[in-house]
Amino acid sequence: MKITVPATSANLGCGFDSIGIAVNRYLTIEVLEKADVWQVEHTLGEEIPSNADNLLIETALQVKSDLVPHRIKMTSDIPLTRGLGSSSSVIVAGIELANQLGKLELTQDEKLNIACKIEGHPDNVAPALLGNLVVASFIDGEAYAIPLHFPYCALLAYIPNTELSTKRSREVLPSSLSFEDAVKASAISNVMIAALSKHHLHLAGKMIEQDLFHEKYRTPLVPEITTIREIAKKHNAYATYLSGAGPTVMMFVASNLRKNLALELEKLELDGEVVYLEIDRIGVNISGFED
Ligand code: HSE
Repeated sequence: MKITVPATSANLGCGFDSIGIAVNRYLTIEVLEKADVWQVEHTLGEEIPSNADNLLIETALQVKSDLVPHRIKMTSDIPLTRGLGSSSSVIVAGIELANQLGKLELTQDEKLNIACKIEGHPDNVAPALLGNLVVASFIDGEAYAIPLHFPYCALLAYIPNTELSTKRSREVLPSSLSFEDAVKASAISNVMIAALSKHHLHLAGKMIEQDLFHEKYRTPLVPEITTIREIAKKHNAYATYLSGAGPTVMMFVASNLRKNLALELEKLELDGEVVYLEIDRIGVNISGFED
């Protein structure tokens, strides 16, 4: 029995805390035999618990507290604390684990609401659940999400070797915006989504890069984004943005231009990897559970 959940890249600049895409790195949970206590086998590092304190099991037990413990194998190629939704992928997997083992028959809306309550915002959990591009809100405890088809384009990510916690990256944000800036910021985001839904990647990219909500405050934490964006522009990339809370920098680029852009970025010899990614169109995937 297997649950697979994609990585996610949230925000897309002006879509702060609301918009995200699913990308083709995956968390895989294999549910093995029943056991006396929960056991989570993984090679993700000593700081990740191997018992019921693992976020996967904590989440599953929050959904259904009397689940029978199992031995679980957890593997993941989603880098941790890099702005690619690693913890959201675990939360979505935990909800699905409870759904399957507890035979709860949760609807997508119910899963989304539970995930948002645990995570706090929808921009990673919604695309992890639904795949593709998702526009979502979570306000006063109520989540709404609309999946949209993300236009065909290649993704290129710069994934630094250093971690940046969401907590630290949120501490630098202002506590309020002026009315004028809030109106501008939401207009930019509205046009970005309309442009993406019409597959106008150039216009969408222009809007992504005009974000007023968060990137300018976070740039000192990920200063290399400025150089990466300049080079990406020279290579006619559609957009460069901070993936989630960072430090990963994501680029949207036409497929035939990606290789040269990657080679150029590699010449910078930054402390990190330049990685090809693609959109995941499926979201969470379940196989082998009994009906
Ligand atoms: N929207 C969130 C942020 C994503 O940028 O802080 C990280 O969870």
